[in-house]
Amino acid sequence: MNYYDLEKKYIFQTYKRNPILFVKGSGKYLWDDKGKRYLDFLSGISVCSVGHCNPKIVGAIQKQSKELIHTSNLFYTKPQIELAKILSGVSFGGKVFFSNSGAEANECAIKLARKWGNGRSEIISFMNSFHGRTITTLSATGQKKFSKGFEPLLKGFKFANFNDISSVKKHLNKKTCAILIEPIQGEGGVCLANKDFLIEIKNICKKNNLLLIFDEIQCGLGRTGKIFAYKNYGVEPDIMTLAKSLGGGLPLAATIAKSNVAEVLGYGTHGSTFGGNPVCCAVAVEVLKIVNNKNFLKNVENTGKYFIEKLKELQKSYSIIKEVRGQGLIIGIELNTDGKEIVKKCLQKGLIINCTQDKVLRFLPPLIISKKDVDEVISVLKDALK
Ligand SMILES: Cc1ncc(COP(=O)(O)O)c(C=O)c1O
Repeated sequence: MNYYDLEKKYIFQTYKRNPILFVKGSGKYLWDDKGKRYLDFLSGISVCSVGHCNPKIVGAIQKQSKELIHTSNLFYTKPQIELAKILSGVSFGGKVFFSNSGAEANECAIKLARKWGNGRSEIISFMNSFHGRTITTLSATGQKKFSKGFEPLLKGFKFANFNDISSVKKHLNKKTCAILIEPIQGEGGVCLANKDFLIEIKNICKKNNLLLIFDEIQCGLGRTGKIFAYKNYGVEPDIMTLAKSLGGGLPLAATIAKSNVAEVLGYGTHGSTFGGNPVCCAVAVEVLKIVNNKNFLKNVENTGKYFIEKLKELQKSYSIIKEVRGQGLIIGIELNTDGKEIVKKCLQKGLIINCTQDKVLRFLPPLIISKKDVDEVISVLKDALK
């Protein structure tokens, strides 16, 4: 039996996978079992930002795994504390809770907001958002297609229209304790929040004593050309969630909260067996060393600008392209038609991209790419669009 048949037999059929078996990765490339090389412009959905099997990451795994792999959170470990200090320093000076996935980071943020609300328990989220696949995070997600069949969902979430402040005000009431938003909706089709909108939201939070929660799981950690997407807006959250690229390919997530907020979760109110695992944290320290660097971030910003320019040029020749949008290296092309066939054509030509919301081609390359890689992608796209 081949691997495709074995997968069908032994694994839940929840993923519609492409028929490719990857066996090797290095930098921006992946190789399949037949030796074909692919340029990876998806990076494991915004995970392998510093490239596949980056020597610094491999080194950190090797070093830490020889010293200590796990202890439980009943004890102290150095990498976890070191990482928390770095995350606090590069963000807004708060405290960190570590978990293993984006959904868990948001789960923690939601628990924290409710406990802090002390009786106020409603959270305003947004249409078209995505916050994870657990029942709580599905309940917070503004896309019905993900929660269909899993009802009843958790009560206490209201959904406002993205970039529409009057819609936010409409959902505000005495029970509201927080506003939860992705500065850039990733799964929702790479939709950017307007600066004025986020500033207004912050004002509403201040005026009504609400917590502002930014889900930067997909758009954070250098992806937009700034260490966090919110730094493009000059709007600071009270809580921020991170996952995906934080662990450099290992499972790690963080919920960062201002200290006066974090303190409402006291002893025994939250926990995770693996959260803040020493190996994952040692890797994340390396990820941050690489990403939180002026030249590195400048390259993300410049390459992203160049990529968007080139895509906009492409738009002039291909009426199938409705809109190009993005910031740094989180970029989407909205088409007038289904994007599946184009993704398939790109894969045949050795380029990995993805399609979200049926019609949005999404690009989330490793942050180490150059303009030359962008040129290659544009040439493949031209062929595929034809
Ligand atoms: C913005 C955002 N939040 C949360 C999640 C959930 O993360 P995970 O799949 O690690 O639970 C995702 C995953 O795509 C995401 O993009």
